[in-house]
Amino acid sequence: MSHLTLSNGDRLPALGLGTWKSRPGEVYEAVLEALRLGYRHLDCAAIYGNEAEIGRALADSIAAGVVRREEVWLTSKLWNDAHAPADVEPALRRTLQDLQTPYLDLYLIHWPICFKPGVVFPDDASGFVALADLPLAATWGALEPLRDAGLVRHLGVSNLSVAKLADLLPRCRIRPEVNQVELHPYLQQPALAAYCRAEGIHLTAYSPLGSPDRPAGLKADGEPVLLTDPVVTAIAGRLGASPAQVLLAWALAQGHAVIPKSVNPARLAQNLEARSLSLSAEDLAALAGLDRHRRYVSGDGFVVPGGPVTLANLWDE
Ligand code: A2P
Repeated sequence: MSHLTLSNGDRLPALGLGTWKSRPGEVYEAVLEALRLGYRHLDCAAIYGNEAEIGRALADSIAAGVVRREEVWLTSKLWNDAHAPADVEPALRRTLQDLQTPYLDLYLIHWPICFKPGVVFPDDASGFVALADLPLAATWGALEPLRDAGLVRHLGVSNLSVAKLADLLPRCRIRPEVNQVELHPYLQQPALAAYCRAEGIHLTAYSPLGSPDRPAGLKADGEPVLLTDPVVTAIAGRLGASPAQVLLAWALAQGHAVIPKSVNPARLAQNLEARSLSLSAEDLAALAGLDRHRRYVSGDGFVVPGGPVTLANLWDE
């Protein structure tokens, strides 16, 4: 599927460019190249620390006539330290300024986790605010008027469980249209996908390649490597495709959006070409059999002694 259609008919290009871990100094060239190749969906976030450079690449591509702003789907995310209603609009305006755009296509609450204002990553419990004291619904209530004002076209969430969505939905005037979560053959999230499908919420799959360039602190010893999984590599070999293309084609075949990160021109091109790779029913069945509920982005960096976040209350499982 090349696009996901949102409730007002807007079309979200299903394959986008991830920019988490794309370092300043390399993301400018990557975004220029991606837009030149035909990417029309950029996935950004304030916390990635590279929005100003992405904004320069977008502005330069528009000035050079490579794309028009309205042809590019721009997503960004509200960081955990700006959940207080008064902090939401300033955070969005900073992102708009950095990305050099008057509006975003989609703005997401990045995590169901709150920090005190100005705390980028807390060292200890004192940097956190409990969700009970600053519920997602309060943050959402500050986002809705920003959509009314046209600063953002669509609103969504990220890293939300079924339980948290079920709690949030009745409190929304404007419904979340996208939930961006880690999703790949080792973490297929069938219950979340079924719930979101029933509620008309699209899923965007992050870390679709298993996020091999995560910082060492976010890696576990002996974790399985998605890109070298024998089932994935066998299908790739048979189809004359790369393992990454098989993983991306799998995500697209599920009806999800997918945002592989690359800063390498050959891999950027290869990933985009995954849109035309079709997997047979047998291939899809073999990939379905790989599910092992394996999170690469476990969230354990948010768990500190005496803090409000536990892996159980983060994922509700
Ligand atoms: P690079 O940026 O050098 O291309 P994820 O999207 O799951 O977070 O994975 C991103 C990681 O996967 C990066 O290390 C990226 O490296 C690498 N990567 C991106 N595309 C491919 C590809 N087609 N084949 C192998 N590795 C890839």
